[in-house]
Amino acid sequence: MGRLEGKKCVVTGGGRGIGRGIALAFAREGADVAVIDRLSDNAERVAAELRELGAKGFAFGADVSDETSITKALAEAEQKLGRVDVLMNNAGINTHVDFVDMTVATWDEMIAVNLRSVFLCTRVVLPGMIERRWGRIISTSSQLAHKGGRQLVHYAAAKAGVLGFTRSLAYEVAPYNITVNAICPGPINTDMSRVGSAEWKAQKLSELPLGRYGEVEEVAPTVVLIASDEGSYYTGASFNMNGGDVMV
Ligand SMILES: NC(=O)c1ccc[n+]([C@@H]2O[C@H](COP(=O)([O-])OP(=O)(O)OC[C@H]3O[C@@H](n4cnc5c(N)ncnc54)[C@H](O)[C@@H]3O)[C@@H](O)[C@H]2O)c1
Repeated sequence: MGRLEGKKCVVTGGGRGIGRGIALAFAREGADVAVIDRLSDNAERVAAELRELGAKGFAFGADVSDETSITKALAEAEQKLGRVDVLMNNAGINTHVDFVDMTVATWDEMIAVNLRSVFLCTRVVLPGMIERRWGRIISTSSQLAHKGGRQLVHYAAAKAGVLGFTRSLAYEVAPYNITVNAICPGPINTDMSRVGSAEWKAQKLSELPLGRYGEVEEVAPTVVLIASDEGSYYTGASFNMNGGDVMV
């Protein structure tokens, strides 16, 4: 019996990287999973992997920052799954830009994909969770929400916003047995962490007490715990799997 047996989960940005790892971990624990990603081919591939694990796996191509696109995809996901018990707000982007060179368009895109999306997705699935008196909203923030970083004003601001969202919504929905939590990974080996200069990466490695980037498999187990019944007393919390980059 898996720890998420019978649970219906949605993972945004599940087409690769951390989101894919979480989707697979959910399926291994007995959940059915809908993967939403703007790269729809990747989402389809992951859905096929989920089905190979014996889960019901569904794929939807959508842009989490676009109200029409994501609302439609989530409604379809909810219909296919029957309901949504666990929403994993994970889709995100990262760019490195000096603040003096940061355009309004760059800022707006970062906030839209990494923060507005959390609002857009959560508002679709929350009414059903409230009705059923059970739900898990989990969002991927970053250790940079705590410590900031050079060339990352827009990214760190968006990810810190996710923590404010998490803590505030946690108060509002606690009476309905819905928990709201965030994860704050440090540098994890994915396509995303391959952006940035060689100097930036060398500096990052030198700051890490564990001396290495983390792996997706070192993130997903914590998310399974938060999503499961065993995670029932965590809410408004942030979980720092970061190799010791930020110790809070
Ligand atoms: N890798 C790291 O070091 C690291 C550290 C801390 C936090 N994070 C966060 O973890 C999450 C996953 O990152 P990752 O490392 O797996 O990166 P990734 O680039 O490998 O995966 C991100 C996924 O999100 C999807 N996506 C991006 N924009 C989207 C949009 N507008 N609509 C729908 N899907 C979209 C991408 O297509 C991709 O599949 C992100 O929120 C990221 O900010 C990553």
